[in-house]
Amino acid sequence: MDFHDFEQSGWERAAGHYGDAFGSLTSQTIPALLRAAAVAKGTRLLDVASGPGYVAGEAAALGALPIGVDFASEMVALSSRLYPSLTFQQGDAEALRFADRSFDAVTINFGVLHLARPDTAIAEAHRVLTPGGRCALTVWAAPDVSVGFGIVLNAIEAHGRMDVPLPPGPPFFRFSDAAEASRSMSAAGFVDARVETVPLKWRLQSGDALCDAFLEGAVRTAALLRAQTPDALARIRHAIVEGAERYRKGDHIELPMAAVLTSAAST
Ligand SMILES: C[S@@+](CC[C@H](N)C(=O)[O-])C[C@H]1O[C@@H](n2cnc3c(N)ncnc32)[C@H](O)[C@@H]1O
Repeated sequence: MDFHDFEQSGWERAAGHYGDAFGSLTSQTIPALLRAAAVAKGTRLLDVASGPGYVAGEAAALGALPIGVDFASEMVALSSRLYPSLTFQQGDAEALRFADRSFDAVTINFGVLHLARPDTAIAEAHRVLTPGGRCALTVWAAPDVSVGFGIVLNAIEAHGRMDVPLPPGPPFFRFSDAAEASRSMSAAGFVDARVETVPLKWRLQSGDALCDAFLEGAVRTAALLRAQTPDALARIRHAIVEGAERYRKGDHIELPMAAVLTSAAST
């Protein structure tokens, strides 16, 4: 199975868990994302990799006219249930079925890091935007600042194997690098690229919940965890719980996380 199909089948499986695992976290970037894409009343917005539909939901609350597109049928069904008055379509970020220059803004919240061909998707965003329309996208910041990722990846490195057979895909943290993110936007014809870091907080009931979020609500990291031996996975879980406990605040755990938000204008 190639990386694109691996991600697609993974998201069909994870759709029911993603919201509980990551929804309260990925939603925190939406105000900054919509600002960076200049979304306001009447903006025709395409939200790519729309997942449960949170971005489209908040855009509609501002009076914008969003359409969400996601390649996982389970995600499209979920977003349509959560936001019955909005339009969500099944479709591929790398081959959008929309006319040239048909949107004023494009958003991609935590989507490009899952794409087999992110540069093709960014070129597609440019194609469907009117000149001057802004594209804004977020990814996780590197694991040293996205502490939840740091804890999980360090635990796998220490107690398991990173070299398990997975379909090869682009580097997970490629767009976390500001220079690389701007370069990719410029290569697709965008101008006025701006990159900012958005601090986030991940509130969890336990360290086990951190491990389960990645096992059930993610795709690439879930596959990395599931490919470990049962003994290694038990040691990894133990190390994740220990790592998370360092961030306990009373009855919950609060992990510092961060997103890198890149936006640019179409030409
Ligand atoms: C981490 S979730 C992000 C969901 C949502 N944007 C949010 O803010 O929470 C990634 C989403 O990207 C979708 N996705 C991944 N690759 C895609 C592609 N090539 N075309 C369309 N959607 C894709 C997945 O199905 C999944 O819903």
